[in-house]
Amino acid sequence: MSDYSVIDSCLSTRDGHLFIDDCDTVDLVDRFGSPLFVFSERQLRQNVREFRDTFARYWPDGKLEVLPAIKANWIIAIRKILSQEGAGADIYSPGELHAALVADVDPELISVNGGGKQEEQIEECIRQGVRITVEDIDEPELINRVAGRLGKKARIRFRVKPNFPDLYKPTDFAQEKVSIDIGIQVYKSGIPAQYLPELGRKVLEMPNLELTGLHFHGGRHHASAWYWQGLMKAYAALIVDLCKAWGGWQPKEIDIGGGYAIYRDPHNKLGLRKDVVETWLTWPLLQVMRLLKPGLRYRLMGKILHSFAKEPNSKIAPTIEEYARAAAGTLHRELNKLGFNTRGVTLQIEPGRCLYGNTGIHLARVKKFKQQTEPMPWSWVLTDTTYFFLAGGIYEYQFNHFIFANRTDDKQTIFADIVGHSCYGDRILPQVRVPEVKEGDILALLDMGAYQEVSASNFNALPRPATLLVDGSEAEVIRRAETIEDVFQRDIIPERLKDKAVSV
Ligand SMILES: Cc1ncc(COP(=O)(O)O)c(C=O)c1O
Repeated sequence: MSDYSVIDSCLSTRDGHLFIDDCDTVDLVDRFGSPLFVFSERQLRQNVREFRDTFARYWPDGKLEVLPAIKANWIIAIRKILSQEGAGADIYSPGELHAALVADVDPELISVNGGGKQEEQIEECIRQGVRITVEDIDEPELINRVAGRLGKKARIRFRVKPNFPDLYKPTDFAQEKVSIDIGIQVYKSGIPAQYLPELGRKVLEMPNLELTGLHFHGGRHHASAWYWQGLMKAYAALIVDLCKAWGGWQPKEIDIGGGYAIYRDPHNKLGLRKDVVETWLTWPLLQVMRLLKPGLRYRLMGKILHSFAKEPNSKIAPTIEEYARAAAGTLHRELNKLGFNTRGVTLQIEPGRCLYGNTGIHLARVKKFKQQTEPMPWSWVLTDTTYFFLAGGIYEYQFNHFIFANRTDDKQTIFADIVGHSCYGDRILPQVRVPEVKEGDILALLDMGAYQEVSASNFNALPRPATLLVDGSEAEVIRRAETIEDVFQRDIIPERLKDKAVSV
């Protein structure tokens, strides 16, 4: 996919080079070193405004609040941009609450979710005046007790888990190969509907709690608008049932979570399902081929494995407009059809991957082009990054679009594995078509704005890379690269081990 302007305004190719905003990515690597994460401020502002304005059009009777999932990206400067845009935050951990507050997120717009919250965390949430999204059935009692002790009223809402029997297509998310409805059941989060009528009645009696609304987050089980329509129909029915069960209670806010796919949707494209087919095909074949002479076998396998080469996804996920219509539009219509008055009710959305995804790229230098012709022909592009810096994507079997940033006009003619420099196999992009690359060329991985930088680890004692923010033709470091000293800064040597040799 080369016409980036169709889906991101921040990327372009000019005279054979990749640009992010008005910065030549090749210059960025020359100036700041490699590997690098690079973010576009303009793209981030554009994305959050588009989410806010588009969803608001499909939720005409009340406010629309964007609470981006901070887990997808908690770099403080990035978060500050969203705070300036008036966005809130969906957060999970005490560390994320810290990040949100340091980055000026309005506490009124913070939702703290997650199961098994500890008393200390709950106390901090109440002190800061953020809303608590309840996940466990015994959590309200604890919150009520802590709020009473502090002499405050805590705002809570329930994270619910409706049933979705109509969502029969296979999920992209669960480890098992099951339908979406089963995938949602297997996912640990949310209070099952069976407990909610009684729990709500109890909470409405608790003096130190205000039940402000309901929350649901299903996650990216499926990229389609069809998935969102199914989710919202069942969620609307549950909301209406609960309002009745709780004696006409009316939510002030309804949160529909995140899970909107990145446009180029790299999710799960390394293909678990395809792996099963491949295993079934290749295993018997391998056994038969053991009868052949080793040389012939390697040559044949080299050819066969090439034929399994993959391409990044060419199907574009729904636009924000299509998601807004399917999610906010369906919820609005279904609730009103069921007699629920949406006037004055706030709708909250928590985009993560789709909000940040195309705002960031990852740049790495080619260290070597390595090739063997015997016994099995194979080629590798060895880079100075590693999939340990891209762990969030690796967990989700992401297969990202890429381009060689200093050879954007070159034809991609050679099959090779693009690999990282940890001692693992580190196959970032297995068997893709690449141009005739050489040492010093620059690889750009696209859609690296969500879950990647924040999940980087130090395997092989590799210092994590720096992050830049670009704005037009300006680029600044917003997270510095680690040093080798940083990697070891948490180590403590017990006194008895300080001697170089064992004293006898
Ligand atoms: C509660 C909640 N909201 C929002 C998100 C963001 O999801 P995504 O990045 O798929 O949009 C997550 C991610 O797991 C989440 O747990």
